[in-house]
Amino acid sequence: MALWSGRFEQSVSEFTQRFGASLEVDKNMYRQDIAGSIAHARMLARQGVISQSDFEHIEVGLLEIAHQIDQGRFKYDINDEDIHMAVEGELIDDIGSAGQRLHTGRSRNDQVATDIRLHAKSMLLTLMAENYSLRKVITRAARKYFGVVMPGYTHLQHAQPVLFSHHLLAYFWMFTRDFKRLHDAYQAADVNPLGSAALAGTTYPLDRFYTTELLGFDHPSPNSMDAVSDRDYLLDLEYACSMSMMHLSRLCEEIVLWSTTEFGFITLSDSYATGSSIMPQKKNPDFAELTRGKTGRVVGDLVGLMVTMKSLPLAYNKDLQECKEGAIDAFDTLRDAMICMEGMIDTWTVHDDVMLKEAGLGFTAATDVADYLAKRGVPFRKAHEIVGELVLYCEKHNKGLEDLTLEEFRQASPMFRDDIVGELDPEAIARARTTYGGTGHDAVRQQLREASRTLKRDRRVVKGIRDKGGVIE
Ligand code: ARG
Repeated sequence: MALWSGRFEQSVSEFTQRFGASLEVDKNMYRQDIAGSIAHARMLARQGVISQSDFEHIEVGLLEIAHQIDQGRFKYDINDEDIHMAVEGELIDDIGSAGQRLHTGRSRNDQVATDIRLHAKSMLLTLMAENYSLRKVITRAARKYFGVVMPGYTHLQHAQPVLFSHHLLAYFWMFTRDFKRLHDAYQAADVNPLGSAALAGTTYPLDRFYTTELLGFDHPSPNSMDAVSDRDYLLDLEYACSMSMMHLSRLCEEIVLWSTTEFGFITLSDSYATGSSIMPQKKNPDFAELTRGKTGRVVGDLVGLMVTMKSLPLAYNKDLQECKEGAIDAFDTLRDAMICMEGMIDTWTVHDDVMLKEAGLGFTAATDVADYLAKRGVPFRKAHEIVGELVLYCEKHNKGLEDLTLEEFRQASPMFRDDIVGELDPEAIARARTTYGGTGHDAVRQQLREASRTLKRDRRVVKGIRDKGGVIE
């Protein structure tokens, strides 16, 4: 019989028992559940609601249960609806009446809200740490390949030569924004709902500030009804995960393109590619594709919870039980996708010769040729037109700008001199983009310094959370 069965004459059917249970998902947060219960009992004893000796029995009993679950020895009962019932039921079996006092002044509604918040904090800290190491891998690659020139694209057409490091660092900044989003979600989760009871608070003299301190939360929630029904922090988590997956997916798409025969910019290491069961020559970028595909799942997790939440009246509704699975899925998926991306980048082979060759093709110097004229007094719009015509001429004669003779240049405009040749070198073109945030070598060096500073700052954020000790990992 369930712990709430007093007012019932019949027990639920086996089917509804199974349909209504959340135990399988809840098993992810047994540590948080037990920590929450110990904090609650410790506070009850301090407030004189239960005796010190009851608290001691409760604590020893709960720690023993945690130990059993850790070791896989805990026997879950088929009738356990959720982790809260499973642990409390076992505690009562083990220690008797002291165990029956644990739930004084508490409801599963504030209990589950507390557990999920603690679990969300732990997941978010893990993701922040992983995001940090992914960004370290990216900066390491940006340093390693410093000076490698590739074509930059717009509309997936050759646009202007850029440094490969610059391209990689674009992702560094995307993931830096993701780190902030994860941290924001962490702060949203860092609020203690324990003591809100079912929805209205309780008549016992609970010290919510004390459990806040014991559980390492930042502050207690100010409204008990909001506290038991709020899952915004999980939406924040899922949003942060979705954004980060979307960024990974974009990078994966580039990895897929770069490793095609057409591009040939990189070769993935054998450990990050798979073969075909029929075509012996194939080396497929499966893991990049899979990450791209899994992005849909994570966005689905976000949308799913959004829809679950949208019509819920205050306060607790059983619909809320659905909130955990998607958040845990988003967490698992993003963590693994980041680990996979780190491995891909760390082990790929970069074909800098191919990148450089491509960087010079497709009229990528055209803007610089127009700028050449503009800097010699030709209005930019006019210069643009002249070079546009030159490109047309090249296309008709099957030439690149670099194949043109000075004669041909001068036919287009007498302003061209023999120094125009220097304007056509992709490396020089990239180097010349000296604007802050541009692809010039010095600008990218400066960007790398800023990236290092940002990493140091974010490492302090992760360390600060760990040092505070409020996360049950
Ligand atoms: N298993 C439930 C959940 O995950 C715990 C809270 C149940 N509360 C209730 N009033 N039925 O949300």
